[in-house]
Parts: sequence; structure tokens; C-alpha cells
Amino acid sequence: MDGANHSVVSEFIFLGLTNSWDIQILLFVFSSMFYVASMTGNSLIVLTVASEPHLHSPMYFLLANLSFIDLGVSSVVSPKMIYDLFRKRKVISFRGCVTQIFFIHVIGGVEMVLLMAMAFDRYVAICKPLHYLAIMSPQMCIFFSVAAWVVGLVYSVVQMAFVVNLPFCGPNVLDSFYCDLPRFIKLACTDTHKLELMVTVNSGSISVGSFFILIIYYIVIIFTVQKHSSGGSSKAAHITVVVLFFGPLIFFYMWPTPSKNLDKFLAIFDAVFTPFLNPVIYTLRNHEMMVAMRRVCRQLMSFRKIS
Ligand SMILES: *[C@@H]1O[C@H](CO)[C@@H](O)[C@H](O)[C@H]1NC(C)=O
Repeated sequence: MDGANHSVVSEFIFLGLTNSWDIQILLFVFSSMFYVASMTGNSLIVLTVASEPHLHSPMYFLLANLSFIDLGVSSVVSPKMIYDLFRKRKVISFRGCVTQIFFIHVIGGVEMVLLMAMAFDRYVAICKPLHYLAIMSPQMCIFFSVAAWVVGLVYSVVQMAFVVNLPFCGPNVLDSFYCDLPRFIKLACTDTHKLELMVTVNSGSISVGSFFILIIYYIVIIFTVQKHSSGGSSKAAHITVVVLFFGPLIFFYMWPTPSKNLDKFLAIFDAVFTPFLNPVIYTLRNHEMMVAMRRVCRQLMSFRKIS
């Protein structure tokens, strides 16, 4: 398969989400709102954690890392989707498409590791409080954030290795609003059954695997919390994030024949709604964070007035 030379497709066409004008307007309004809200919220979290010395603890560092990657989650798919909503011909260049697939997988990988690190952090804090400072040392935090990026990059490169030499010679219409890897592979003019299976097994095993690890952590945490009967609301918040992030993912890769529109709407959910949810869930219920964020906001405002 000396594929690369056969490629004649230079761009892909998205069919988008729907042709209904009303739903498009609705999507436009909601996606833009959530996009702006999650960019603002997540930037504010990164800024707050960086500028408030008393928030320099493992939990907040990991939260800031999650917010930072959420800025990427928001930006990799939704701006293009919003821009495309009212365009008749929704095109993306071949290179743009491959770039999108690459970053979607990097970001997905990083986010999974960070969610696991955050679960581990809470597990140590609640189940082994006396060893917390020794286990969650600054080195451990740096290890987690570096590991997240390494895992994300390796995972994405592995996925790309499957597709980089695929020949594309004819059909170039993707029934989606972004370059979705399984759909992208189906367009190659070669027998792709084995490849589809490989990509599915790769992403599927990673997301199902980390989902179960996370669930196990949180079950242990919940049992410990109940034994000591202190408040469990922030753990419930963590679990909500985990389920909302992985639920649609697992559905994608595991569902044998995704019903045509449901999986697209779930994808919107992952692209637009989850990055917005993280700041809401992790900060609104956290008094310390709220106070710090207000202070940073006030500083930003007065800075603007002076300059
Ligand atoms: C991510 O975590 C590392 C290690 O704790 C920290 O030094 C860094 O500032 C964090 N990154 C962001 C963007 O907050």
C-alpha cells in the first residue's frame, strides 16, 4: 500500500448537523454561548490558580491543568462548527481534517489522564489523609501533568499511524460537523474493515479502561466518605464530570451502528458542553475558589480602568 501518492482528495465536505433552520439557530445560540462561557470560565480558573499563592496545591494545579486543556477542547471543534452552521458548503482541507483528528486525540488523551490524576488526588486526600503531602508532592504533580501530555501525544500518534497512508480517491463527504476518525477512515478507497476495528479497539479500550478505573476510585472514595460521614457533594460533582465526559465517548466507540443523529448530538455535547461543565462543577461548589476568582476578576477590572 503506497497510499500517499493515490490521494486526489484535497478537501472534505461536512454535511453538518441538520438542515432545519430552527435547530440551526438554536445550535448557533447555544454553542456560541457555551463556547464563550467555557473559554472565559476556564481562562479565569487558570489565571486564578496561577495568581493566588494559597491555591498552589495539587488539587488546584490539576484543576488548572484540566481547565487549560478544556480551552483546547472548546477550540478544536466548536469554532469551526459555529462558523459552518450557516454556510451552504462546509469544507475543510485535507490537512485541516488530519490536524483536527490529531488534536482531538491528543486532547482526549490528556483529559483522561488528568481526570484520573484528579481522582487519585481525591482518593489520597480522603482515604490516606496522613500521607497526602508525602504522596501528592510537587514532583508527583509535575509527573501527572507531564504524563498527561505524553500519553495524549502517544495515543494520538498511534491513532494517526493507522490512517496516515490511507489513499483517498473519491468520496469526500463526511456526515458530521467535524473530522470524526471512524467516518474519515470509511472514506478511504481501500478495504478499511480491519482498520476501523483497530481504531475502535484502540480508542474503545482506552476510554472504557479509564472509565472503569475512575469509577472504582470513586466507589472507594464514596465508601470511605460514608464511613466517616462527612459531606460527599464534591465527590458527586467529580462523578458527574466523569460520567458526562465518558458516557458519550463510550457510546461512540461501542455502539455497533450509531443511530444517525443521536451520535452527532452526543458529539456536540462532548465538544461544547463538557468544557463548560468542568469550571461550573469544580468551582461553584467550592467556596475558596469562588472567593479567589472574584478577587482576580476585580483585579482585572481595575487593571483595565487604569490602563
Ligand atoms: C499544571 O500542573 C503543573 C504541576 O503541578 C503546574 O506547575 C502548572 O502550573 C499547571 N499548569 C497550568 C496551566 O495551570
